[in-house]
Amino acid sequence: MEHTTVIHAEGLTRHFGDTIAVDRISFDVQAGEVFGFLGHNGAGKTTTIRVLNGVLDATAGKVEVLGLSPNAQGPALRRRTGVLTETPSLDDRLTARDNLRIYANLYDVPQDQVQSRVDEMLALFELSERADDKVGEFSKGMRQRLALARALIHQPELLFLDEPTSGLDPVASKQVRDLIDRLSEEGRTIFLCTHNLTEAQRLCDRVAVLEEGQIIALGNPRELGDQMGISLPLEIEVAADQINAACELLSSIEHATDVRARGSVINVSGLHRTDIPLAIERLVSTNIAIFQVTPGEASLESVYLALHRDEEAA
Ligand SMILES: Nc1ncnc2c1ncn2[C@@H]1O[C@H](COP(=O)(O)OP(=O)(O)O)[C@@H](O)[C@H]1O
Ligand SMILES: [Mg+2]
Repeated sequence: MEHTTVIHAEGLTRHFGDTIAVDRISFDVQAGEVFGFLGHNGAGKTTTIRVLNGVLDATAGKVEVLGLSPNAQGPALRRRTGVLTETPSLDDRLTARDNLRIYANLYDVPQDQVQSRVDEMLALFELSERADDKVGEFSKGMRQRLALARALIHQPELLFLDEPTSGLDPVASKQVRDLIDRLSEEGRTIFLCTHNLTEAQRLCDRVAVLEEGQIIALGNPRELGDQMGISLPLEIEVAADQINAACELLSSIEHATDVRARGSVINVSGLHRTDIPLAIERLVSTNIAIFQVTPGEASLESVYLALHRDEEAA
């Protein structure tokens, strides 16, 4: 597969007086990827988004987005990117439709396409029925959907989402996550800042973990889990009449913490990916018939917690 680099950051740094908000970070984002940017509050996520969009200048380092320099070619860049800021400002006195229309004009959507584009966005974000109501009356979830619709009105190829589900209830969060999934399936590149690890695990192809302005880990959740020796759940299906023998063998493997059987399926916790061949070998050498082995994914949460344990120990 051919890779096109959409974002290239090299030694990107941003200071605010004595505060080093972003400290020499380097990463690339490829076309079509959902790239997660994770970190506690104050880690430097929002500052990075603002530099990548040319809203703030970098103090040092090199940045290229869609082949453009955000600092020198900001307006040209922003015509091709959509941004959902942390606290999007909508005009409460205007209707949902007018909020979108104004943005469409601002972003040079051709006049003869504005109406259809606005209608399409309202439908996609399930706001058609409330299109002509003032936004001041909208719930938080509806406002967030409208803000996302607005960020997409000019069909940007690259989308920056800064904590898109923070402050939303579980139902609204899920709606927003499903929309992000759908946008990603359409081939859009998404740069997603979040401190929600479950969300990142579900949505992201790769993540960068940011701490005090520095990237302390970068990769897909599985790679990170492997590198750090994080355990993953393992499901093994064996012949039903051999289940007890199989459980006993699996319990004797060094890292296994919990072994549970249900019917002919065994769930093992605590094993590392590198333990899987050993587990299979033990079962096979005892003539246990294996029908299926399904490793789960190391949870991003365990990766994240392990990273922070290492940091504290250092
Ligand atoms: N405009 C600003 N002026 C001064 N300090 C700022 C400004 N914006 C961000 N910071 C500081 O930079 C650091 C990173 O902030 P931010 O990028 O907002 O982090 P995050 O989005 O990960 O929560 C914080 O210490 C914050 O206080
Ligand atoms: Mg932020």
